[in-house]
Amino acid sequence: MKILKEYRSVPVKWGAILLLLCFFSSGYAQQKPKYLDPQQPVSERVKDLMGRMSLDMKIAQMCQYVGLEHMRDAEKNITEEELLSGHARGFYKGLHSSGVERMVKQGLIGSFLHVLTIEEANHLQKLAEESPLKIPLLMGIDAIHGNGLMSGSTIYPSPITMASTFAPDLIEESFRQTALEMRATGMHWAFSPNIEIARDPRWGRVGETFGEDPYLVSQMGIASVRGLQMDKLDKDKSVLACVKHMAGGGIGNNGTNASPVEIGEGELRNVILAPFKATIRQTQPFSLMPAHNEINGTPGHADKWLLTEVARNEYGFKGFIISDWMDMERLSQTHRIAATIKEAFQISVDAGVDMHMHGPGFLESIKELIEEGKLSEERINRACEKILEAKFMLGLFENRYADPKNLSETVFIKEHRQTALEIARKGIVLLKNKNNILPIAVNKYKNILVTGPNADNQSIMGDWVFDQPRSNYKTVLDGIKMLSEGSNVNYVDVGWNLRDLNNDSITKAIETADKMDLIILALGEDSFRQHWKEKTAGENRDRMDITLWGKQQYLVEELKKSGKPIVVVLVNGRPLATPWLEENVDAILEAWEPGSFGGQAVAEILYGKVNPSGKLPITIPRHVGQIPIYYYHKPSQYSHAFIDGAKEPLYDFGYGLSYTDFQYSELKCPKDLKYGEPLHVTLTVENTGEMEGEEVVQLYLKDDFSSTTRPVKLLVGFRRIHLEKGEKKTMVFSLDKEVFGYYNNKGKYVFEPGSFTLMVGGSSLGKDQIFQKVTVNN
Ligand code: BGC
Repeated sequence: MKILKEYRSVPVKWGAILLLLCFFSSGYAQQKPKYLDPQQPVSERVKDLMGRMSLDMKIAQMCQYVGLEHMRDAEKNITEEELLSGHARGFYKGLHSSGVERMVKQGLIGSFLHVLTIEEANHLQKLAEESPLKIPLLMGIDAIHGNGLMSGSTIYPSPITMASTFAPDLIEESFRQTALEMRATGMHWAFSPNIEIARDPRWGRVGETFGEDPYLVSQMGIASVRGLQMDKLDKDKSVLACVKHMAGGGIGNNGTNASPVEIGEGELRNVILAPFKATIRQTQPFSLMPAHNEINGTPGHADKWLLTEVARNEYGFKGFIISDWMDMERLSQTHRIAATIKEAFQISVDAGVDMHMHGPGFLESIKELIEEGKLSEERINRACEKILEAKFMLGLFENRYADPKNLSETVFIKEHRQTALEIARKGIVLLKNKNNILPIAVNKYKNILVTGPNADNQSIMGDWVFDQPRSNYKTVLDGIKMLSEGSNVNYVDVGWNLRDLNNDSITKAIETADKMDLIILALGEDSFRQHWKEKTAGENRDRMDITLWGKQQYLVEELKKSGKPIVVVLVNGRPLATPWLEENVDAILEAWEPGSFGGQAVAEILYGKVNPSGKLPITIPRHVGQIPIYYYHKPSQYSHAFIDGAKEPLYDFGYGLSYTDFQYSELKCPKDLKYGEPLHVTLTVENTGEMEGEEVVQLYLKDDFSSTTRPVKLLVGFRRIHLEKGEKKTMVFSLDKEVFGYYNNKGKYVFEPGSFTLMVGGSSLGKDQIFQKVTVNN
């Protein structure tokens, strides 16, 4: 009996296996090619898919277009026929949004940018799913401090505010949360972080950078990429990061966006490229964006040395490079290094750029260039493979859609709101506090006047943010109202548009001041993207002057005449030269662009619920004529004075007041060190004041003598610590050998033995610092 059973079972088993084999080798296998099998390794899936793609399809992966809504806006008053006949001007001349939809269906577009709703993202993905190979679209967006172009997102403080926290862990967390919010809305790729060194406050984009210091910017860049991409690209949670703009936009000749840069290779590598080197090496960002500007005669989008030799070969960048907005075209139209746009595409792709931002013409030109033998198919394969790899790693072939049902549990949730608030609390910098007028004593001021253009509007959001629901943010006025119990808050609205403040309201504010006991005045700039025509800062809003815009100076001077104490809250992305305020008002709070809960954080600091602890990540000049001004200048920078004003900055890098005092002591390190060994530095900080608080301990290093001139000091370490009243903490910094070497003016990396000075304190200023020497030998 037993034998019979086993005998019978054999043919049944074999039959089933045979059946399965037939099934897989026939129809089913064709329905489910290898690249659609998530069990296969990504490299195999890419290989399989590449094998099925025509040349057009491969180049199409390198093509990006702007979201349909932008085109539809432009098309509102014209028909498709009018557009195609060339008499009317749409977003893409001669191409209607319905034409773009058709191209997606044909598999002729690989990526979109600035798709601003979940519905549009899903609609486009649906069209892509109908294309011959069903390749999903990669959705890119400028999520610079939260996914701000989308309504309802958590808006974290802008990068300059983030940098003021000197708290990379917190910044990493904000970018991790941003990635989650992006994925929930169908976005996969943040054009962020901007790790340019900002040394010119005339440049409108300072607010979207982490400031002037190579070490701090590097730490913030690393934190941002780690947050966005997480430890390893996660198929459901993370997004691609994009380090940008390589390089030099923050030191343009005249401070305007995209202006040329002339710089020696030593300074270029020691300062401007340092954050790119550190961030690429330590985090492997999946994408990189070149700069608008040229360096020493080579525009960023044509710079093969920078993009391929330095970023890829030397720093080990392994991702893909996306052009900036129409910058390939500008090689011909602006820089004039290519006679035609087609030649511009050739130069740019040859230099290393893998994806075109944005619009028609690219695919056809690249195809012709290959047919003419001017670009190799191999080059296109490399670009396409990387872009496909990203799509596989993000899990888009398995799930390309975002489910609106998930929004409420992912976007603007409590945890994210808390992080945004926490960054604002730690990033706001107290610049002045005459006679300790702050924190505002409860019940001391019966009547408080709150006024100024930035008291009650969305300029607290900063650039790269569109209109947000009113219930999602707290303005300075909201914050003050929340905490001013016991006082009457009188708000005089002078209008938010800095270019056109309301004269009658200004007069009313001045008259009201006489009846008040305290004036809180919110001044500054406006880089909020929704205020497209009115904004005074942000992308392409560069200035010749960096004082208070328009009637603001008049307003504060008139209020001063009332004799009442004045607290100024500055809301701005670029440093403002305001020596008059320093001399004439009682307190100044640099709020930067503090995001959704900025107003609450401002008020918490004003009322002493939070002890201020932000430190400046950029030097603030007294006058536009001092530019460029940065703390790591060369020793000869101040050999001679200006005859018409002070040479020192208004506020130094690293500066920021607290309601308590910190004292530094016991800075210790070995007297001699062998180059290559880590240097351990210990020091002690004590809270000697009356209140618990946080301090940013800053460690600087100076090369005492060198064959090429070196900066007077350079930040090599920092730590944010919390100290209770009377508490003392000892800490250790470990510095590795890199801090002792540098690139000389021939671009060669050198280490020169000799003595170095270590300086530690709560700012880059010498006066509260303590010193120690170390000799480093070969
Ligand atoms: C900016 C980039 C940005 C791109 C897309 C450009 O104008 O320079 O930083 O990522 O637009 O919005």
